[in-house]
Amino acid sequence: MNLITIDGPAGSGKGTIAKQLSEVLKLNYLDSGAIYRILGLHLIENNIPIDNEDLIKKSIEKANIQFSGHKISLNNRDVTDEIRTESIAKIASLIAANKTVRESILDLQRSFLKKPGLVAEGRDMGTVVFPEAKNKFFLTASVQERADRRYKQLISKGFDVSILDLVVEIQERDFRDINRTISPLVPAANAVIIDTTKLSPSQVVEFILGNI
Ligand code: C5P
Repeated sequence: MNLITIDGPAGSGKGTIAKQLSEVLKLNYLDSGAIYRILGLHLIENNIPIDNEDLIKKSIEKANIQFSGHKISLNNRDVTDEIRTESIAKIASLIAANKTVRESILDLQRSFLKKPGLVAEGRDMGTVVFPEAKNKFFLTASVQERADRRYKQLISKGFDVSILDLVVEIQERDFRDINRTISPLVPAANAVIIDTTKLSPSQVVEFILGNI
C-alpha cells in the first residue's frame, strides 16, 4: 500500500504539505499531532495531572476521538480549531513525552493505514509508527521562518498572538520533542531531509512527488 511519512518540527510545513499530497495522490491523511493536542485538551478539561499515568490511561480509554475529513471531534464536540492554540500545543508536547500516552494511541494511528494508502505527518511517523514506510521525508526550516508561518496561520484563524512569543514557544517545544527519551523528534535513517525555509509549499510537494 502507498505509505508516505512526513516528520519534522513545529511549523516546518508538514501539515500543509501532507494535506496537499494526500489530495493530489487521493490517499488518506493522518495528522498525528492533532491526537496529542486532543488528548492535551481532554486532560486539561478533566483536571488530570500530566504525571498521573493511571488516570491518564483510563481517561484516554474513555475519550472518543473521531476524524471526519479535516474535522476532528472529541466526545462528539468539534474541536478542530480549539486545539490549534500554542497553549494546547505546549500541553500536547508535555504529555507526548509520556510512554503510556504514546503507546495508547499507536493502534489508533495505525488504523489510518487503509486502502488506497496514507500520508502520515508528525514527529515519529517514519521512525516508530510506520517504520516500514518506503517513502519517508523529514522537513526542516529556520526557527524564524517557522514562527512566521505559525503566526500567519494563527492570525488567519482569529487568534491574537505575538511573533516573539511564538519563537520562544516553538524553541521550547522543539527542545522537548528532540530531547525526550521515547520517540524523540529525529529523522528516520532512510528519510529524505528537505529544508523548506526558502521553498513554497508547491515546490516541496513537487520535490516529494519527484522522489516517490
Ligand atoms: O504537529 P503538532 O504541532 O500539532 O504537534 C503537537 C505536539 O504533539 C508536538 O510538539 C509533539 O510534542 C507532539 N507530537 C508527537 N508525536 C507526533 C506528533 C505530535 O510527539 N507524531
